[in-house]
Amino acid sequence: MRNVSILAATGAAFALASHAQQADDAQVPRQAAELPQRLEGTGERAPETVPRSSAEEGAEIDPAAFRFGLGRRASGEEIAAVDIDVMPDGHGAPEGGGTFAEGEELYATHCVACHGADLQGVEGTGGVALIGGRGTLDTDAPVKTVESYWPHASTLFDYTQRAMPFNAPGSLTPDEVYAISAYILGRAGILDKGTEMDAATFAEIEMPNADGFYRATRPDTGPGEAPDAD
Ligand code: HEC
Repeated sequence: MRNVSILAATGAAFALASHAQQADDAQVPRQAAELPQRLEGTGERAPETVPRSSAEEGAEIDPAAFRFGLGRRASGEEIAAVDIDVMPDGHGAPEGGGTFAEGEELYATHCVACHGADLQGVEGTGGVALIGGRGTLDTDAPVKTVESYWPHASTLFDYTQRAMPFNAPGSLTPDEVYAISAYILGRAGILDKGTEMDAATFAEIEMPNADGFYRATRPDTGPGEAPDAD
């Protein structure tokens, strides 16, 4: 089966599958020979050609040449509303800030029901432990938490802003997310309780497991790095 790609644009989705296919057939030289349906000898079904990523296909589509007359270009405002990702160096972080003390109150209102006053998670709610577990990752009983596992503080901010509280994702203001992040990182002993968290702090916070990851080799991103032997 051919891969079917749906390119979703903010506010409007364009189904480009058939056009992508046409573009593929008409303009892109095939790189692999046609495969037989069945393998000679064994009669087994032959492997399918590896589908190309939709990003690759999208790049080859000249928007002017393939107009459905559907949808419209997303406005800058619409893109800004969903463009909330925060990178490890703080890129993309919103304005604002918050402190441990503010976060303590906000946590008690928005998070404690599922993650607990001890930040260890409340059984039966699905809320997981947020702190602890440091140094357990290479043991037989690894405990993965924000403190022990996550390599970047920006992920805590990004995830909380995007997905928490579980029952009302996206309901917190940037100031509130900064404060709650400061609280969790403070309770984890990662951030000084007196430090206000804002966009500039992401680059400064060193997470305990920051060096625990390496770039994997993948077909789309190229060669990675070998993990340290120790
Ligand atoms: C109604 C219950 C509930 C509330 C309230 C809640 N959470 Fe969660 N939280 C969850 C559940 C369930 C998960 C696991 C989600 C998953 O794995 O998809 C989770 C996961 C998380 C994680 C990811 C932890 C990990 O190691 O994967 C973080 C961080 C987090 N919550 C922070 C918060 C913060 C901060 C608040 C308050 C603003 C909050 N949560 C409120 C239920 C809740």
